[in-house]
Amino acid sequence: MPTPHMQHELLFGNVKLFAGTASPELSQEIADYLDLDLCGRDIIEFPNENLFVQLQSSVRGQDCYVIQTTSSPVHRNLMELLILIQTLKLDSAGRITAVVPYLCYGRSDKKDKPRVPITARLVADMIVAAGADRYMTFDLHAGQIQGFFSIPGDVLRGFHILKNYLLELAPSLHNPVVVTADLGFAKKGRVYADLLQTGLAFIEKKRTSDITNPQAMTVIGEIKDKDVLLVDDEINTGGSMVHAVNILKEHGARDIYMIFVHPILSNDAAERLAALPVKQFITTNTVPIPPEKRAFLGDRLVVLSIGKLLGEVIQRANEGTSVGEMFNE
Ligand code: R5P
Repeated sequence: MPTPHMQHELLFGNVKLFAGTASPELSQEIADYLDLDLCGRDIIEFPNENLFVQLQSSVRGQDCYVIQTTSSPVHRNLMELLILIQTLKLDSAGRITAVVPYLCYGRSDKKDKPRVPITARLVADMIVAAGADRYMTFDLHAGQIQGFFSIPGDVLRGFHILKNYLLELAPSLHNPVVVTADLGFAKKGRVYADLLQTGLAFIEKKRTSDITNPQAMTVIGEIKDKDVLLVDDEINTGGSMVHAVNILKEHGARDIYMIFVHPILSNDAAERLAALPVKQFITTNTVPIPPEKRAFLGDRLVVLSIGKLLGEVIQRANEGTSVGEMFNE
């Protein structure tokens, strides 16, 4: 049940929650938190792979939220999101919010070589063009992707989900240090180190021309004889983490705990991670992890849910009250 709130006059009607097919458990958890039912909708795929969506009741004037993460199958999930938004728009929804816990194409955020696209911008444009008035997401791969959206959004941080678990874990660790798996995560790594009052070290990583095979180069900072909290925003193929763990061990790290927001775990990533000398894999459910991948990681896998936080943010968005004050901001 949501925390009690003052009665506010609703600007955009009642909350109507719609789920795509990408994360049914998370969608139900959000609905349970808000004490609402998910709204009925039909989503059909025709033999030619075209999708068809129909709402089972009117949303005229209502405050609609479409919950759909854009992990695998990425293009199917993205199209479902876009078509659901357009369907709500054409049924005269009062306001439409795209709730996309993991936003795909975040790594295509700049023209860093000749003749390449900026696909994160294209995705943002498509969400807006479909009819979204607002968006909610977690940990964009690069913060400036916010600027690709011409609509307001709440970019939430997995840190707020992970921190309580880490605060409980830290006292049992020997001489802990936070290590970021890549220099791009250094600023966020500082937030973890400040929370846990530990030192901070970094892996310097270089990607070769084979973008799926990053090479960890070196460790910057003190990690010898320390338990390591290895943090990153996402694990895709697991390549970065395999190199990171190897180099940490070569430099004398003790126990390693891997902490990441988006468990994309493409291809055989779960299997690769399972073979590593890592005590725990601590993540969230911005991306659902299929049972066969969970099985590889067994009880070393800790998945902390974003459901209640998203439910609360949706409630506040509906009432027009501050989200920042949930985090003392
Ligand atoms: C890179 O910039 C990110 O922070 C992650 O390190 C990266 O996306 C992980 O990819 P992979 O698991 O394929 O190495």
